[in-house]
Amino acid sequence: VHTIMKVFITRRIPQEGMKILSQAGVCKVSLWDSDEPVPRVELLKGVEGAHGLLCLLSDKIDTEVLDAAGPNLKVISTLSVGFDHMAMDEIKKRGVRVGYTPDVLTDATAELTVALLLATARRLPEGVVEVKNGGWSTWKPLWLCGYGLSGSTVGVIGLGRIGMAIARRLNPFGVKRLLYSGRTAKSYAAEVEGEYVPLDTLVSESDFVVVSCALTPETQGLCNKDFFSKMKNTAVFINTSRGAVVNQEDLYQALSSGQIACAGLDVTTPEPLPTDHPLLTLKNCVVLPHIGSATYSTRGIMAELSANNLLAGLQGTDMPSELKF
Ligand code: NDP
Ligand code: DGY
Repeated sequence: VHTIMKVFITRRIPQEGMKILSQAGVCKVSLWDSDEPVPRVELLKGVEGAHGLLCLLSDKIDTEVLDAAGPNLKVISTLSVGFDHMAMDEIKKRGVRVGYTPDVLTDATAELTVALLLATARRLPEGVVEVKNGGWSTWKPLWLCGYGLSGSTVGVIGLGRIGMAIARRLNPFGVKRLLYSGRTAKSYAAEVEGEYVPLDTLVSESDFVVVSCALTPETQGLCNKDFFSKMKNTAVFINTSRGAVVNQEDLYQALSSGQIACAGLDVTTPEPLPTDHPLLTLKNCVVLPHIGSATYSTRGIMAELSANNLLAGLQGTDMPSELKF
């Protein structure tokens, strides 16, 4: 006799994912039916007795949530590749399996990173504003100049799936040297002629510093005062990983003092960044609202994958993308 298993989904997700779950007929789904985050009390109520949880990067999955779910819980499927929002030790202790969405969002996120890098370095948001507010008086030789990739040194911190996809896309712009840092050298870096260097070397020699590592205790606050003080005054800083990799007070100082040229961020702490945050007063800082993977098709595929991960976890079969930890 099969008992219908209970699943809680913490947000409205693309139809592609909902369809898979409803057609499978193995679980009863309850959903926080909103585009806004589930309030903590509702999350704790929603997971009660659940066999499966489909969550987002904005949901903190900690001991309290796991305890609220109780011993039925078999699987957590997150609609993200990042898993820094989940207490992995506690999840492991309870023998709960975890699904995530690597690979399917790599291209979209790398594209967005390149877009942000070019927009920041060539000052596109400033230019757009000047056109609208009458600041564009004539063609001026010294106006709205920025920095180009041709002949430059690019440093990628964390040459993983997304870091490598960024490197592949930047190289054809005429990058002269491609440096990368991380815990280990990567054999696949040969394809982009990547040089594995110590972080200090990367930071001091790069014209563009691109952060694409995972957020871990080791990378938290990695980009701090000391880090920015080693960068060139003409260097461009880009972060599309997680906001907490950057010390934002130190970044503000580096940008406002001219220690570095400009920064582009797709991720911040907190998210959303308060509209009165000092970083938003700076012309040389471009902030996006965490849209790295935001293409229609990518989000649809992420929803599908997270639904299939969830079903496999419920049924005890192989997941399309299981996080091994
Ligand atoms: P991967 O696991 O493939 O890559 C992560 C990289 O981080 C690895 O290459 C790893 O290098 C590196 N890393 C880990 N620890 C350190 C460290 N101490 N110092 C330097 N590098 C380190 O993940 P993905 O490329 O798929 O995703 C990367 C991150 O991007 C995600 O964790 C997520 O936070 C973020 N992301 C953001 C998106 C957005 O919308 N802006 C969209 C998707 C992802 P090594 O192997 O050498 O340790
Ligand atoms: C992730 O997947 O970790 C991103 O931040 C959102 O796609």
